[in-house]
Amino acid sequence: MSNTEKKAKIGILTISDRASAGVYEDKSGAAIKECLELWIKTPFECDYKVIPDEFELICEALRSFCDDGCDLVLSTGGTGPALRDITPEATLAVCQKELPGFGELMRMTSLKYVPTAILSRQTAGILDSSLIINLPGQPKAIKECLEPIFPAIPYCLDLIGAAYIETDENYIKAFRPKAKK
Ligand code: MTE
Repeated sequence: MSNTEKKAKIGILTISDRASAGVYEDKSGAAIKECLELWIKTPFECDYKVIPDEFELICEALRSFCDDGCDLVLSTGGTGPALRDITPEATLAVCQKELPGFGELMRMTSLKYVPTAILSRQTAGILDSSLIINLPGQPKAIKECLEPIFPAIPYCLDLIGAAYIETDENYIKAFRPKAKK
């Protein structure tokens, strides 16, 4: 099956001790889904998990999303400096390649909203043919971080042999340096 025929699969991973214990509702995972539904024009399905801030559980969840054929995995939470924040370490532990530009652009853009944007150690990387991207845990941070990086995501998926996605240009204009043949 060619990449254009494959229906995209996107994993949403909420990493939060409190959301996983039911102390509060996971608003960030829902915010991710909302952005995707608005911005992606081609068909896709979502997988969703909420887990606590445990290194092994995060690695396991990321690997299983990728083994299940997720083209893109978006995590939220656990990127800060607090003792239990361990998402970037787990992401780098499972990925074969780091893509530091995603975190750099998110921090740069987020500084327009909050001075504490520099506290997020969020990163991104490639595991086989899946792109994994960390987002901070705050629900309002989701759109603030996803919007600036999203134009580069479809081409990154093309380069790693993942599904072909098209965005709704009324919201996000994907940038592909070379048009797909
Ligand atoms: N980035 C954006 N765009 N908006 C935000 O509100 N919050 C910051 C930062 N990045 C924030 C943001 C704060 S307060 C923290 S502590 C870090 O993300 C890490 O958040 P996390 O540990 O929940 O992932």
